[in-house]
Amino acid sequence: MISYKEPFFILETQSLTYAFKVMETKHLEHLYYGNKLSHDDLENLHTKLTAKARGVVDYSETEGKDVPLDLMTLEYSSFGKGDFKLSPLEVKMPDGTFVSDFIYHKHELINGIVPSDKLPTAHDGSDQTKSLIVTLKDTKFDIYLDLIYTIFFDSDVMTRRVVMRNHSKKSISIRKIMSMMFDIYGNHYEMLTLDGGGIKEGQKHITPVSYGTYINSSSTGISSYKHNPGVILLEKGTHEDYGNCYGFNLIYSGNHYTAIDQSSHGILRVMQGINPSFFEWDLKHEQSFETPTVVMTFSSKGLNDLSHHMHHFINHHIIPRQFKDVVRPIVINSWEAFYFDFNEKKLLNLAKKAKHLGIELFVLDDGWFSTRNNDLSGLGDYDVNTKKLKTGIKGLADKIRHMGLKFGLWFEPEMINPNSKLYQKHGEYSVQIEGREPSLGRHQLLLDLCNKEVRKYIIDQMSEIIDEAKLDYIKWDMNRYMTDVYSKHIKNQGMFFHTYVLGLYEILSTLRNKYPNILIETCSSGGNRFDLGMLIFGPQIWTSDNTDPIARLSIQKGMSYFYPLSTLSNHVSLSPHEQTLRKTPLHTRFNVAMFGVLGYELDFKYLSKTELKIIKEHILFYKMHRHELQFGDFYRFNEDDPYHMYYQVSKNDKHFYGDFQILTLPNPNLEMLKLKRLDKDKSYHMKSINQKMTLDKFGHLISHALPIKLNPNKFLFRLLTKLKMLDNAIEDVTLSGTALMHGYKLKQQFMGTYYNNQTRIMGDFGSQIYIIKESS
Ligand code: DGJ
Repeated sequence: MISYKEPFFILETQSLTYAFKVMETKHLEHLYYGNKLSHDDLENLHTKLTAKARGVVDYSETEGKDVPLDLMTLEYSSFGKGDFKLSPLEVKMPDGTFVSDFIYHKHELINGIVPSDKLPTAHDGSDQTKSLIVTLKDTKFDIYLDLIYTIFFDSDVMTRRVVMRNHSKKSISIRKIMSMMFDIYGNHYEMLTLDGGGIKEGQKHITPVSYGTYINSSSTGISSYKHNPGVILLEKGTHEDYGNCYGFNLIYSGNHYTAIDQSSHGILRVMQGINPSFFEWDLKHEQSFETPTVVMTFSSKGLNDLSHHMHHFINHHIIPRQFKDVVRPIVINSWEAFYFDFNEKKLLNLAKKAKHLGIELFVLDDGWFSTRNNDLSGLGDYDVNTKKLKTGIKGLADKIRHMGLKFGLWFEPEMINPNSKLYQKHGEYSVQIEGREPSLGRHQLLLDLCNKEVRKYIIDQMSEIIDEAKLDYIKWDMNRYMTDVYSKHIKNQGMFFHTYVLGLYEILSTLRNKYPNILIETCSSGGNRFDLGMLIFGPQIWTSDNTDPIARLSIQKGMSYFYPLSTLSNHVSLSPHEQTLRKTPLHTRFNVAMFGVLGYELDFKYLSKTELKIIKEHILFYKMHRHELQFGDFYRFNEDDPYHMYYQVSKNDKHFYGDFQILTLPNPNLEMLKLKRLDKDKSYHMKSINQKMTLDKFGHLISHALPIKLNPNKFLFRLLTKLKMLDNAIEDVTLSGTALMHGYKLKQQFMGTYYNNQTRIMGDFGSQIYIIKESS
């Protein structure tokens, strides 16, 4: 619901209110963003200035307008009229100055969303989605700023963006234009960001905000795993289940920027948008510029609740409608199985085993085209390598489909290798600067998506393969940052990064519309472009190349602050793990990967019969519960020691709890399992999954478990390992919601001296899954 009760604008979602007003000066004063509020309160929410402050400039000498903008919480600010807080705008105006003064001009209420010309936006999906456009006009020139607000009632989320329109006679130059600005009182906040790098995506950091400006940004050309665009502003003391917090994220895949600026008068300003560094956009007479959309929400119940708003919004208003609530298939991906070294026979063999285990989709990763037998060459070319694939992609796809599997293919459409046929023919398609040796990333250059001809080339080439192989799935990869950026197809090189992103979105939306049912999974060396812009086109993202379950625990947990489980693509791979050399139990690899979209990325020939049997059971389990595991509400815990992590996912009357032990402590503490979100008055049946162990868990200590002594290096031990499995303790109780939320005392862990089937064996990297269901 959005209403205008002069001078107040009130935007309401299910449980939140956002309010601002038109001031005497016609600037907009931000009043409130928080839990649902009575409209009667609005009269008293404005800033109360009763004395002249020192060192400020009044907007005007006229009575009623003699306010210092610097001391106001504003909705969107200009520059040069007395607001000295960080400016959301830097525009060279027609008179050559940077001074602008945007004040209220008119507004319009709209049902549904306000569509965008070129940028992806959220879709409505409910008749309770409403929009508001407040148009501001500069006091000197015919230049307008449309502030566009949309409320997504059911998700408790709102979006904001701005459009600048130049109706003045002269061109202007935009150097900074934020999508959203948000002012509140406070000097007691912290900032939560997800920072990282390759194979360490989504690492959560909390930084106290003090005086000055705190920036979370990317200038790599993509959103990047260095700093994800999502940012949370939280009051000190806020944790997973308690406290006030505001979440912001940007529907954008290029250079992003969030600044949190703490002023000396206790006003904290947040802004988010395109990174103004290396950005300059010329706006001629009658042209307009539209910013990407910011997604924002608030919770007074802590970070889990805040994430649930974001998750609901993504599942209902971001991912393509056709994938809403549609369970995702279990993948076998060829990359870690064979890398570039495969042929049709090897692939079919892998597919056959995968099918037998219950896997549903076969994905052929990198290496199927041109001369691509390593990462030195071939990107940009689309001719199938018939030395490897003797019946072509079509032949392979048909055979795989005949086995009862779906078929998907890897592409890296935005790239070109200097060593490729395309480069020989169209070197000018690559991004580089004449007279400067280009810097290569993974031996490759970027294709110039600012060039229409390049965009057409990519769409045509991909369409041909998609049609030929009738693809069910595409993995859209992107493996380098942008350097040496230049395009002769734009006049001002300050427009490069954004024009590239618009070009990318044009390609993606053309293919999306042409092939609505293909499942697109995006990827960028893992989660290097994990953002809402990419999720508009493909509902899931390859979270990280790191599939070590212990490393994945913090990666997946980190991503969950902003992104739902349905977007996290997680694969089970071999142990020892290729990036960490860590040996982890197969159960743990599955137990971590099942919190999201499950897949496998390994050659089954390295697994024993017992392990294959376990995988089959895992897959069966996942299929039974995948709707909950992909679309349920994910809960994080305030872990109080570095050796444990807990995950919970809940949907309707089913709950799954993952207990992960990062390291075993000698003589470990007794432990409690404490669930969330149960109904205190209901009764629940809680059972742990039976995770049998092989004898090698004990090795030479096998006499702890069996009444015999065996040498693990001898044949008999190896034989028994194949034949005999050891039981692990099972928890199986029926208790009230109250008791389970208060804490259930788990069976004791192995203490070094004693084993029976009532002893819980976790060990280093061990884990246990509990299913909790309402009992009738
Ligand atoms: C990087 C991706 O993250 C991997 O999963 C794989 O697709 C390789 N690229 C292929 O080159």
